[in-house]
Amino acid sequence: MSKTFAVIGDPIDHSLSPNIHSAAFRELNLENSYIAYRIPKGELSEGIESLKKIKIAGFNVTIPHKVEMMKYLDKMDESCSVIGAVNTVTNTEGILKGYNTDMDGFLDPFKKKEIKIQDTKILLLGAGGAARAIVAGVAKVKAKHITIANRTLQNANNLTQFANKIGLDANAITIENVGDDLKDYDIIVNATSIGLKNEPSPISLESIKPETIVYDIVYMPMNTDFLKKAKGKGAKIIYGYEMLLGQAVRAFEIWHGIEAPYNAMKKALLGGV
Ligand SMILES: NC(=O)c1ccc[n+]([C@@H]2O[C@H](COP(=O)([O-])OP(=O)(O)OC[C@H]3O[C@@H](n4cnc5c(N)ncnc54)[C@H](OP(=O)(O)O)[C@@H]3O)[C@@H](O)[C@H]2O)c1
Repeated sequence: MSKTFAVIGDPIDHSLSPNIHSAAFRELNLENSYIAYRIPKGELSEGIESLKKIKIAGFNVTIPHKVEMMKYLDKMDESCSVIGAVNTVTNTEGILKGYNTDMDGFLDPFKKKEIKIQDTKILLLGAGGAARAIVAGVAKVKAKHITIANRTLQNANNLTQFANKIGLDANAITIENVGDDLKDYDIIVNATSIGLKNEPSPISLESIKPETIVYDIVYMPMNTDFLKKAKGKGAKIIYGYEMLLGQAVRAFEIWHGIEAPYNAMKKALLGGV
């Protein structure tokens, strides 16, 4: 029987998820569909009722509903309860179960490239929802220390407390105080929204070591100024689209219980690059 899936959020027109999941359906000859459904802030309850009426099989959740959606879940996977936000939901006869696949999505490129996070020192820029999933991820694989740098220090402090609570050594600073000496960091991640509008890199990467891993979770544009600067210093790069693919693959596997066609999904995203 064909099933319908969706991504909900606002704005939603530019979401890449319908392309990625539709490519997977085509590759595996599944007669399912995946739609983008705009639900404005404040209308989540009605939106979910409509999805239940059409017997939606599952849906992704994006800005601004990732936290509020928690209220409407009947069950929660640990990934979702630890992070406190949901991006993937299954619907089994009206019972909604939430997952957070951003954490595994973030870790996926490290696994694929066989890069170890264990015992590394990390600089994380940003303290929003995605940063929280990243902190949970690197705590799970036993990073040594994380410095959380954010525009609003209070948000960095809150995330530091969360890191400590789940067993990860952490400290908080403002982005301006990151400084010019980054040799101490093995991994540097941008999890702010800086770059989405082609803004310059939030920090100078002049002092990084060539073996540093520099990861920008912003995926549009693909080549942010942050990554261009890192490439200029010979660093190893991880692109935001790799996390986007990782979270989509994990969502696919939760919904369908079969291995996701990674290459077909990647091709849909990059247009065969
Ligand atoms: N690749 C993927 O799969 C993936 C997955 C999830 C998210 N993302 C991307 O990650 C980014 C963050 O998403 P999110 O869900 O964490 O958003 P969020 O919860 O709204 O957090 C936004 C973060 O960016 C910071 N920020 C925003 N504008 C800034 C500015 N002008 N200067 C300095 N800092 C600024 C905020 O700092 P304050 O605390 O000071 O406000 C906060 O730390 C978005 O671009 C999103 O598209 C990518």
